[in-house]
Amino acid sequence: MVDVLSPLARARAFCETFGLRLPILMAPMAGACPASLAIAVANAGGLGGCGALVMKPEAIRAWAAEVRAQTNGNFQINLWIPDPAPQRDPTHEARVREFLGQWGPPVGPEAGDVLPVDFAAQCEAVLDVGPAIVSSIMGVYPRSIVGRMKDKGIRWFANATTVAEAREAVAAGADVVVAQGMEAGGHRGSFEAERPDTAVVGLFALLPAVVDAVGDRVPVVATGGIADARGIAAALVLGASAVQIGTGLLRTPEAKIPTAWADAIGKSQPEDTTPTRAFSGRLGRSIATAYVKAANAPGAPKPAPYPVQRGLSQAMRDAAAKANDIDRMQAWAGQSARLATTEPAADLVTRLWSEAQALLTMGSSQHS
Ligand SMILES: Cc1cc2nc3c(=O)[nH]c(=O)nc-3n(C[C@H](O)[C@H](O)[C@H](O)COP(=O)(O)O)c2cc1C
Repeated sequence: MVDVLSPLARARAFCETFGLRLPILMAPMAGACPASLAIAVANAGGLGGCGALVMKPEAIRAWAAEVRAQTNGNFQINLWIPDPAPQRDPTHEARVREFLGQWGPPVGPEAGDVLPVDFAAQCEAVLDVGPAIVSSIMGVYPRSIVGRMKDKGIRWFANATTVAEAREAVAAGADVVVAQGMEAGGHRGSFEAERPDTAVVGLFALLPAVVDAVGDRVPVVATGGIADARGIAAALVLGASAVQIGTGLLRTPEAKIPTAWADAIGKSQPEDTTPTRAFSGRLGRSIATAYVKAANAPGAPKPAPYPVQRGLSQAMRDAAAKANDIDRMQAWAGQSARLATTEPAADLVTRLWSEAQALLTMGSSQHS
């Protein structure tokens, strides 16, 4: 029989280790993690998050300074581990540009030349800022960076989408594994960029498998499709020590996302979201908007690799954000989108944890 008290004990131990009052992490969300959201979550006792993918060193420092000034400093900074440089194909890119031109402004050939922010410079900025927690997605940090993080007492939370990735992360020195199910909104953190879109694992299968594989060495955080107390309680029963919530926080006032996106999140059933490479070239889960459906349809040109596709789709995405047009917007969302509420973020995480605790203790009082 499952011991219903052990999930709570596990969550409390995690909170104690990381100085939290509740085991809820704000997902690091590149482009959707304003300091205001991290401040609200951290002050409620959870962990704030910064998805620093597109942030230059100055922006990383400024974000951390703002959050530190208004909280106890409980936040994670997240970086993408870079993929090898993409293979360019100008003939195919021309087809993609033509397709995108039907959805937004004309796209010139130079649009695909976008370069990611210098990863080494981002790592230096993060080490300099010295947050309590640094996280990774799409791979593991180089050994030298891991060594320097450890020297500074920074803990490393590594996102993993398979058991093999979880094992690789722990072998590389990760202190916590974040098991990301395929329900998750936004980019899927496969270590392999071209991993087939069919090779995806749902959280109900992934989480206990990761816990069985590495849970004796490191705590496991669950993420993907968790947006209410039932999801939190289920994740803890399946072996997680905490949960990480992305989409579930995006409708809060502190998230400050375009209203068309926030409204669409509230109306999306699980089947209304879909994995797509159409925004960036990397697989991510989005609301199945008109553009995403057209780009995913047979006959549409295959998206260019990351980050080329991100550059090619930039003009359309910018125009859509300006016009608050959901059909062309980069509208990432996880499968539990409809559960997201518009409460202030601090009220939301406080309520979710109190309801999850009630669910986890419900049976125990009857049997004691
Ligand atoms: C808008 C958005 C941006 C995201 N950006 C990042 C990112 O930069 N780094 C990262 O590790 N995960 C990123 N994610 C994934 C989240 O960390 C997390 O895995 C996901 O939100 C969990 O699923 P949920 O949205 O159903 O809660 C992003 C998710 C969203 C919704």
